[in-house]
Amino acid sequence: MIRESKPLRLVSLFSGIGGFEQGLEKAGFSTTLMCESDPVARAVLAHRFPEVEIAPDVTKLNSIPNCDIVTAGWPCQDISLAGGMKGLRGDRSSLIGDVFRLIAESDHKPEYVLLENVAFALDLHKGESVRFVTTQLEQLGYRWAYRILDTRYFGLPQRRRRLFVLASLHDKPEAILLDGIQGEARSNSPEPKMVGFYWTEGNRGLGWSPEAIPPLKGGSGLSIPSPPAIWDRHTSSFVSPGIKDAERLQGFERDWTEAADAFPKGTRKRWLLVGNAVSVPVAQWIGQRIIGARTGVDDWKTVPHSDRLPKAAYGGPNAPVTELSVTSEGPAHPDIANLSDFELSDFYPVSKRAIAGFTGRFEVAPLRKNQEFLQDLRRYLSLPKAA
Ligand SMILES: C[S@@+](CC[C@H](N)C(=O)[O-])C[C@H]1O[C@@H](n2cnc3c(N)ncnc32)[C@H](O)[C@@H]1O
Repeated sequence: MIRESKPLRLVSLFSGIGGFEQGLEKAGFSTTLMCESDPVARAVLAHRFPEVEIAPDVTKLNSIPNCDIVTAGWPCQDISLAGGMKGLRGDRSSLIGDVFRLIAESDHKPEYVLLENVAFALDLHKGESVRFVTTQLEQLGYRWAYRILDTRYFGLPQRRRRLFVLASLHDKPEAILLDGIQGEARSNSPEPKMVGFYWTEGNRGLGWSPEAIPPLKGGSGLSIPSPPAIWDRHTSSFVSPGIKDAERLQGFERDWTEAADAFPKGTRKRWLLVGNAVSVPVAQWIGQRIIGARTGVDDWKTVPHSDRLPKAAYGGPNAPVTELSVTSEGPAHPDIANLSDFELSDFYPVSKRAIAGFTGRFEVAPLRKNQEFLQDLRRYLSLPKAA
């Protein structure tokens, strides 16, 4: 176990705009190396972490400096529903192999490895990519634990379920990461003042999120970002957050990605980068749990083994996989913030054209319909001036 008072040293691979770095630094870590291939993301990192070296390509890195933790939110396009669903066979998601290569070849293996991906990784090809990850970690001598964490429980009004895998050589990652997993299930507020949804959807789902926005989306460099919409029940209006509020909804400070404005299509790029990032307070919470790590938690309730991967589990070299029943995707003491209290400061009305398209799809879709919502959509469309 690492118990020095010096800050724990972080090497971050696939750094993006630094969600892990920012969160872990807030918890007391210090970043020693970042690695990011996208020049626009690199410009953001250089602006925000001017002291830290940024390598341009994980596949070309021969080694990493000695450190206490390696983080990697490895590219998820091949795993996400929006991508090709090739899983680890996809060129981009298979880059996780380089993370294990670099750890295997390092003089002193880092005490911790922290990985992140979309929650769907647990379902795609029966969780093949997660099994690959846990097997590789075990072969390197790591004990591991994984679970889904939802940004909604970390003080930000954004629903964002992401898979986190934490591995440790000497600590018990399950004691660190699985805090609160069997906590009280929380239901949505019955009378939300605001509801987030995706106006671009409406056929099979709409991302209905009482007092929160649905997950901000990143995607590939080619796709056009689509900000979510917010229905304000008190004013019967529909707005979308601007990029500065989107940054805040991920836990970054306003204008965190402003360095991207110097590039062509800067604003579009900012949306993609913010939508791909790790939410800062989630990373911070994991960092705080690592720093305050205590061991000896052995009383998790196990559930029978099934063909599919469970929503949370832990294991290690020569140890049986223990599956857990999950009632909460937040910590033992969740911090639930309401969108109506978030004080959005950068937002704009959703165009009537967008609402018209959404309403047309929604009206005929086989979805449960909130009548007040439908009335407000129609009222918005009948307003005399373009909204
Ligand atoms: C899911 S995002 C990571 C986001 C990051 N955790 C954050 O908080 O912003 C994956 C990142 O990996 C980068 N990437 C893809 N291939 C890479 C490579 N070969 N070397 C370094 N970075 C790469 C992408 O440009 C993208 O920014």
